[in-house]
Amino acid sequence: MSATDLATAALAGKMGHAMTPPSDAAPGGAKFASAWDQYVAHTPGAAGRWPGDEWGDASLWQAWFARLFVPAGVERWTRAIEVGQGSGKYTELVLRAGTATVLALDVSAAFQAVCKKRLADAVAAGRLLLRPIDERDPDALARAAGEAGWTGQVDAVFSIDTLVHLTTTQIAALLLSATRVLRVGGWFLGTFADATSRSGQEKLIGDVDRVMRAGGDPTTGCFHWTSPQVIRALAERCGYAVEICDLDPAHHRDGHFALRFADAAAAAAAMALRRPC
Ligand SMILES: C[S@@+](CC[C@H](N)C(=O)[O-])C[C@H]1O[C@@H](n2cnc3c(N)ncnc32)[C@H](O)[C@@H]1O
Repeated sequence: MSATDLATAALAGKMGHAMTPPSDAAPGGAKFASAWDQYVAHTPGAAGRWPGDEWGDASLWQAWFARLFVPAGVERWTRAIEVGQGSGKYTELVLRAGTATVLALDVSAAFQAVCKKRLADAVAAGRLLLRPIDERDPDALARAAGEAGWTGQVDAVFSIDTLVHLTTTQIAALLLSATRVLRVGGWFLGTFADATSRSGQEKLIGDVDRVMRAGGDPTTGCFHWTSPQVIRALAERCGYAVEICDLDPAHHRDGHFALRFADAAAAAAAMALRRPC
């Protein structure tokens, strides 16, 4: 079963009930963080497994790691930032592959607590820094890197199985924010929900009733769909050279991208299009 089939099955089982909104819920509140916290609360631990390990299996995680991370020189990274680390299965692969320090950002306090426990040795050794971010902050990535003193010095930003849940606008915010974080030549690796793939379309259409009935609320089972063409166009506009942007050949449903930050002037021009409010 694929990563997302497993995720869907887990979510159908664990998250089929209506979720209680956070106590400070308000229009624009951090609803998605609350949804992920509740996912953790409703995912019972099993021996040797952590919430989120139900998404795929070790062979798929390894296949994605081999395709995206190894060609990006993961064993030589010094500083890397992960967006949406969950319980940290890709974090662990990066930590094991070399000597990088990883700054892991997530909107879910519960997932950060689980990751802290799973990778306690790396936390104790100062190789894993866990920081919560606000889903409403368009500059969360740059802000966190700045607080770490890493602005412009990061070898790679990576986000696996997280951007599938974000809108194209949220992905654009991360692409832009990462240009303030990465060194020139640094990598942005990610996976995204590809509406051009046959099995992507099957999930998209299969989820229509559930997503429509959720009234557009962010839920952990909700994907936001885009395409390799959209990701490529946005990445190039933001100053990246596109090394990979296609359908994952192992999984045949989600998209993969591997981008290199190449053009600071293009990034600045794209950033200048923003209208802060
Ligand atoms: C499907 S899980 C993937 C976790 C992990 N990367 C993995 O593959 O196991 C999505 C993760 O993204 C986090 N997340 C959701 N929206 C986010 C956002 N806007 N910024 C950062 N993390 C986010 C969730 O809390 C959750 O930990």
